[in-house]
Amino acid sequence: MRLDALLFSQGFGTRRLCAGLIERGLVAVEGQVVTDPAAAVEPEGLRFSVQGEPWICHAQAYLMLHKPAGYECSHRPGAWPSVYTLLPPPLRQRPTKGKVQGVQAVGRLDQDTTGLLLLSDDGAFIHRMNSPRHLVPKVYEVTLKHPMGAGELDRLLAGVQLHDDLKPVRAAAGELASPTRLLLTLTEGKYHQVKRMVAAVGNRVEALHRSRIGGLALPGDLAPGEWRWLAADDLALLSAAPG
Ligand code: URA
Repeated sequence: MRLDALLFSQGFGTRRLCAGLIERGLVAVEGQVVTDPAAAVEPEGLRFSVQGEPWICHAQAYLMLHKPAGYECSHRPGAWPSVYTLLPPPLRQRPTKGKVQGVQAVGRLDQDTTGLLLLSDDGAFIHRMNSPRHLVPKVYEVTLKHPMGAGELDRLLAGVQLHDDLKPVRAAAGELASPTRLLLTLTEGKYHQVKRMVAAVGNRVEALHRSRIGGLALPGDLAPGEWRWLAADDLALLSAAPG
């Protein structure tokens, strides 16, 4: 693959811009400055830098972000900043089939929800992770306004009726870590689902944090606002049961 085409594929701007960066000596490949835009490179895993910023080539982007509160999962947010502003520009400018689309969030978390958010430019992956047919379990840590009794938890597990749904929705698993701290596992991702389910049993969510998707837990050393690439092991864990 040509070096200018590789830079374009990774979101460093138009082909012309990428060729210009290379010709101006601003791109180093494996530590060596390369000034020929047509230089041949082996893309996958290639380490390069653009204007001193290191990058590793990924044919497709799969990442996790520790979403902080106060950010919207939208490219055109309303009152709050977008989660996409927490990512470096190349991830927001990656082309898909020649068009700049950038990575997309795999489902949405509310503005005030924190925790594990996946992002990717692989449409099939996003669809698979979001599809209720694939039943990917997502674990939420819910801080409740009122102490929850065993009866309310039983109702969440048996299924509660949300206004716009014909069928009741039920939690796949639930456990009270304390009377006001609930661990809830859902396999669907309906709008405000946790908040609406908790409201349906007469309680209220004070804080919501997603700690796990499938077998992949939010790493303790990933601070709010930080992101990282998903390794092959992480991707495999997504299809495993929550541990
Ligand atoms: N359920 C909610 O109510 N909000 C979220 O952000 C995620 C799940």
